[in-house]
Amino acid sequence: MSIKQKTLDLKKRMQNALQGGGAKAIEKQVAMGKMTARERIISLLDPNSFHEYDLFVEHAAKDFDMDKKHLPGDGVITGTGTIHGYPVCIYAQDFTVAGGSLGLMHARKIGKIMDHAMNLKIPIIGINDSGGARIQEGVNSLAGYGEIFYRNTQASGVIPQISVILGPCAGGAVYSPALTDFVFVVDKISKMFITGPEVIRSVLGEEISMEALGGARVHSEITGNAHFFSESETECFQKIKKLVSYIPWSNKHKAVAFPKKAPKTRQYKIDNIIPTDPREPYDVRDVIRSISDDSDFFEVQELFAANMVIGFGRMNGQTVGFVANQPLVLAGVLDVDSSDKAARFIRYCDAFNIPLVTLVDLPGYLPGIDQEHAGVIRHGAKILYSYSEATVPKVTVILRKAYGGGYIAMCSRHLKADFVFAWPTAEIAVMGPEGAANIIFRSEIMNSPNPEETRQKKVDEYKKKFANPYVAAAHGYIDAVIEPGETRKFLLHALEISAEKSEQGPYKKHGIPPF
Ligand code: HXC
Repeated sequence: MSIKQKTLDLKKRMQNALQGGGAKAIEKQVAMGKMTARERIISLLDPNSFHEYDLFVEHAAKDFDMDKKHLPGDGVITGTGTIHGYPVCIYAQDFTVAGGSLGLMHARKIGKIMDHAMNLKIPIIGINDSGGARIQEGVNSLAGYGEIFYRNTQASGVIPQISVILGPCAGGAVYSPALTDFVFVVDKISKMFITGPEVIRSVLGEEISMEALGGARVHSEITGNAHFFSESETECFQKIKKLVSYIPWSNKHKAVAFPKKAPKTRQYKIDNIIPTDPREPYDVRDVIRSISDDSDFFEVQELFAANMVIGFGRMNGQTVGFVANQPLVLAGVLDVDSSDKAARFIRYCDAFNIPLVTLVDLPGYLPGIDQEHAGVIRHGAKILYSYSEATVPKVTVILRKAYGGGYIAMCSRHLKADFVFAWPTAEIAVMGPEGAANIIFRSEIMNSPNPEETRQKKVDEYKKKFANPYVAAAHGYIDAVIEPGETRKFLLHALEISAEKSEQGPYKKHGIPPF
């Protein structure tokens, strides 16, 4: 064959492979409101940046007539490209080819692109749309999953790992996304569960739809398995692009700096956010927006454990991770879910050199039988562990209440915050004035001629003594009491002078966090 003929032959082979599962299967995919795997990659990456590899990989399975089946690309598309010019490795399972099921060669393609990402120290993005282990390939497909999980674990904390669930992700397949850093889901399209409705019906006799069992809302609001919820695939890709702009390529890099921008102070007036009555709630995200560059805040897990707010913003062009109690929800208490949420995010920021800014306003850990029995001791400990372990710059601002364990847990000086500032509205004490007065003056209150009047007097006495930042300031536990309007100035300075912070903990193979 001449070069021309060979080139034509190549083109023909490529054309065949690029058809995926064929017109009928693509039609079905589109009818479900889904893009095809290749369309997804093209929509997410910068125009013309996608380079595909392993297009001609074939499965070698023989059982159940598999030797008669041609599965283009073995049901997964892999390659490299860029997002905002940043390099990424990517794979997308092709549901039109044997339901995107994972056979050995399919898994090997994923493993190979993950290895590239690790060798090149760039993010890996996995788009999941699959019926799970390819049943005909038996233990080989299980082996394939195991090899992916191993790579996910090795890559954890080294390169960013992003999972996008755009179809079914069932059985053991869920554990690759669960091992990655961020999981994106889309309403009515994403479905994740270990055992599906059929198994639940036959084993437990319970009826439930796929959507109610493991749809996008369930994982965004209830389980916390998902970090970003979108209404459509297009919106989801916009969010992935935004996330990529905040995070570094690997743990050896810092996030790319953006041009500095002042907050929109006309819209977010920091002096007016906290209500005069300390019992009244407010939206802590307004405080974040009043101090972040361009008032931008990219919230993570917005719909889960909303009593804790986490997300990315920028200060003088540099990415920071915000962790803040949300007085709007449950008064911002720490509980099982909010502790998990914050702890994981703190560890993410620490692993990827992103400074932490913590905003404190909480009455403490949530009391209750449910919480105790759900393991609030173990889960609550995660936040102590992750702040104590973190060596990135840590700056804390106490806005209002900082009581009890909550004061310690929210990146206090005692967990080695680099700088702790407090607003004049801060109240730092072992517990709230009402509770404290009832305990320490109980007999005095009970034995007085007018217990209610005495109780109020003792509450006021306690408030006067402890419900302020000055006792903590007198001990040097906070570095400065600042006016709200000075917050950005203090934060910028603290972050600037901490930029080259380098801290080495004691030698250990690894710690034993309270998982
Ligand atoms: C092989 C599969 C497959 C699988 C789907 N297909 N799942 N082939 N192995 N696991 C094939 C179908 O046979 C069909 O092929 C095509 O993909 C499309 O599937 P449909 O069923 O027609 O699509 P749909 O109606 O949209 O239903 C999607 C689905 C369903 C809900 C995902 O296919 C399903 O329930 N699949 C099985 C899910 C499952 O139990 N997986 C194994 C989990 S165990 P044709 O040729 O007809 O087009 C597991 C263990 C891993 O994953 C453990 C790791 C630790």
